[in-house]
Amino acid sequence: MGINKRILVIPGDGIGSEVTKWGKKILEKVAENGGHQFQFEEALMGHVAIEATGNPLPDETLDKARSSDAILFGAIGHAKYDNDPTLKVRPEQGLLKIRKELGLFANLRPVKVFDELLSASSIKPEILSGADILFFRELTGDVYFGEKRKAEDESWASDLMIYHQYEVERIARKAFQAAMTRKKKVCSVDKANVLEASRLWRKVVQEVAKDFPEVATEYMFIDNAAMQLIKDPRRFDVVLTGNLFGDILTDEASQISGSMGMLASASVGDRIGFYEPIHGSAHDIAGKGIANPLASILSAALLVDIAFGLKDASDRIIKSVDKVLKQGYRTMDIADKHTDNRFVLGTDAMGEKVVGML
Ligand code: IPM
Ligand code: MN
Repeated sequence: MGINKRILVIPGDGIGSEVTKWGKKILEKVAENGGHQFQFEEALMGHVAIEATGNPLPDETLDKARSSDAILFGAIGHAKYDNDPTLKVRPEQGLLKIRKELGLFANLRPVKVFDELLSASSIKPEILSGADILFFRELTGDVYFGEKRKAEDESWASDLMIYHQYEVERIARKAFQAAMTRKKKVCSVDKANVLEASRLWRKVVQEVAKDFPEVATEYMFIDNAAMQLIKDPRRFDVVLTGNLFGDILTDEASQISGSMGMLASASVGDRIGFYEPIHGSAHDIAGKGIANPLASILSAALLVDIAFGLKDASDRIIKSVDKVLKQGYRTMDIADKHTDNRFVLGTDAMGEKVVGML
């Protein structure tokens, strides 16, 4: 029997609208194939919202988000703000606020290498082959949300790195539960040799670990983890870490899947989930029709699985992507010197291929 769901699409900035167009089309195809009713709404966030309303997260967007069953998001940011630190209203504030307002404390970033893309990565194929990591990045705490201060004369500025016990505990539990369905390994990443917040993090994780005796838990410092990740990515199963360390490590880990254009993520917590590529707004290629839509398509796969429990449909989306890659089709970011030029597709042509396959 089909299900009835409301999905809010927030394209955001830059290539956001070009790629979410395809995430949405995939969702429409899932509905068609499975006899489901998905109702779509759209809303503004980020630079486009600032231009239209002066606010990176208008109340209307937040209201629509709260009354939806899941959110498909594109990307946020604009170069104009990056080079001007004096601007007070910034696109990213919209994303941070919606994470906080919706209680999206756990950001899941699965990193898997598609065999076809082994040669697209800057890491040697023999090191990558078989890597399969699930990152749990804490998303509503840490230095991102700690108190921000600066001197009136701007001679100093500070961001407080702070974690509460309950914040660490709730994400640690999710990570261990996920590990139980995988290879039963958790690596918790921190900087406990230096930071007080990390020592608390480690203590809480050690406590939670006691409830999961079957899981092999290891603790690693962030600097070492950054190195191990490209030295031997296969040693990792579930990686559990804080907001800032997780932000950095997962960009690094995108090289394991071939390209930033491939990585999808799910932010979950209290109720409504938020599904988005990990890549940014990429204004340098926006409007050119060459952005890779696969991360948005894979975000749609996470959405139907996690938010709606449609695991089969989710697997079929991933298989469709795999098949299209096996046929040799690539977007520019994942093409390499072996790719025949006739197989290098733009955003829409690639999206079309995957929808057709599904
Ligand atoms: C991400 C992004 C965001 C973050 C930015 C845009 C605020 O880099 O989702 O990884 O740092 O969390
Ligand atoms: Mn990031």
